[in-house]
Amino acid sequence: MIGVLVSGNGSNLQALLDAGLPVRAVASNRKDAYALMRARRAGVPTATFSLDCHTDREERDLVMATWLEEHGVELVVLAGYMHLLTKPFLDRFPDRIVNVHPSLLPEFPGAHAIEDALAADVATTGVTIHLVDDGLDTGPILRQEELPLEPRETLEERIHAVEHRLLPTVVREMMVTS
Ligand code: GRF
Repeated sequence: MIGVLVSGNGSNLQALLDAGLPVRAVASNRKDAYALMRARRAGVPTATFSLDCHTDREERDLVMATWLEEHGVELVVLAGYMHLLTKPFLDRFPDRIVNVHPSLLPEFPGAHAIEDALAADVATTGVTIHLVDDGLDTGPILRQEELPLEPRETLEERIHAVEHRLLPTVVREMMVTS
């Protein structure tokens, strides 16, 4: 069973749902994330774990991990989740947390990967699917796909199209091998 962490639009969550993958719980750090609407529309339980409601990040992550486990989650997908995860969460799902990132890591980690690639004017960028550790977009790489930067006007759209194809593919493979 899959749990998805989100902070924003949730188009990658939508791709997982559309692919028919067993998403059983969706958690967010922001109650206004549009991704939560997508989950509710699909009948998937949602919850918000805001930092404001907890003494620190570790406590929040512990409570969030417990909620996911209570929903039968064995594999966690970060789909536009904008907080780093702390040890109490990582220890609950060893090698079972996967992230989608819009660059060819280790190039352009962080929250502005597409803008950073455009600013650096590289010839090629792409999409990375990787396991999550306690660093910023640093875990072992599972899959990458390259894209030419040009035409710049459509880069974001092309990156998202690759994400929406690659993420469900890799997640499905991980479920088969679990
Ligand atoms: C995606 O580009 C993903 O690679 C990055 O955040 C974005 C999330 O988009 N980590 P969405 O919320 O899935 O639409």
